[in-house]
Amino acid sequence: MKLLTGKTALVTGAARGIGKAIALKLAQEGADVAFTDLVLSEATEQLEKELQACGVKAKGYASNAANFDDTQKVVSEIAKDFGRVDILVNNAGITKDGAVKRMTEEQWDAVIAVNLKSVFNFTKAIQPVMWKQAGGSIINMSSVVGVSGNANQANYAASKAGIIGLTKSVAKEFGVRGIRCNAIAPGFIETEMTAALPEEIRKSWIEKIPLRRGGTPADVAGVTVFLASDLSSYVSGQVINVCGAMNT
Ligand code: NAI
Repeated sequence: MKLLTGKTALVTGAARGIGKAIALKLAQEGADVAFTDLVLSEATEQLEKELQACGVKAKGYASNAANFDDTQKVVSEIAKDFGRVDILVNNAGITKDGAVKRMTEEQWDAVIAVNLKSVFNFTKAIQPVMWKQAGGSIINMSSVVGVSGNANQANYAASKAGIIGLTKSVAKEFGVRGIRCNAIAPGFIETEMTAALPEEIRKSWIEKIPLRRGGTPADVAGVTVFLASDLSSYVSGQVINVCGAMNT
């Protein structure tokens, strides 16, 4: 039997990058997969097909994770369509980098809303579903910069540090119903998000990584499967760095 047979997963921001790799790996391990992104597109249709080809039920939903009402609506639709949600992966995220002295209020608010408030939105919406099931695993995508900070990313680092506080609090609050909550802190992962960086910055990041390569979305997806599955049944409230030993 596969690791996640009989479980249903919900992944936010899965049209591409790390979220897409996570959705695929969860499906390959036998989970039914509901996923969201800002809009339904050719990419989300293609992903739906790839997931279904794994022999599981899969459906994409358009939803803005930063919006509280949108999130309530989409979670209740997914709970109705799939009957249950055992795994929630809060993956949706953006960057709007800049030095504090030049950062606008809009840059600050947008990153906090998409990266941090979204995790509250989905946690709040999923709580009654998981509570009723008396079980579940919530996995939040933080970042090594949430642990250590980073120049020119004060908004992003604050949002990712906030996710860690939220994760630990939810683990303490939801544990009584057998619901686990953990965070993953990826280091430098090669996706469209990091491809946008200038080449010399990419190179200087990689030189600092003991494993001497950027991570792949599949590297993050593997840890997500571990946290989603019963292999991690006594792991909750933790932050797992997936960073090639960059952050130790
Ligand atoms: P990406 O930019 O390639 O993909 C993010 C996805 O989220 C996109 O499909 C986008 O449309 C979606 N999204 C954005 N705003 C949304 C919203 N309001 N509602 C719903 N969906 C939304 O990013 P990537 O690299 O795959 O990152 C995924 C997560 O991993 C993010 O939370 C990011 O902060 C985190 N992360 C990424 C690292 C990296 O090196 N790539 C390192 C550490 C953390």
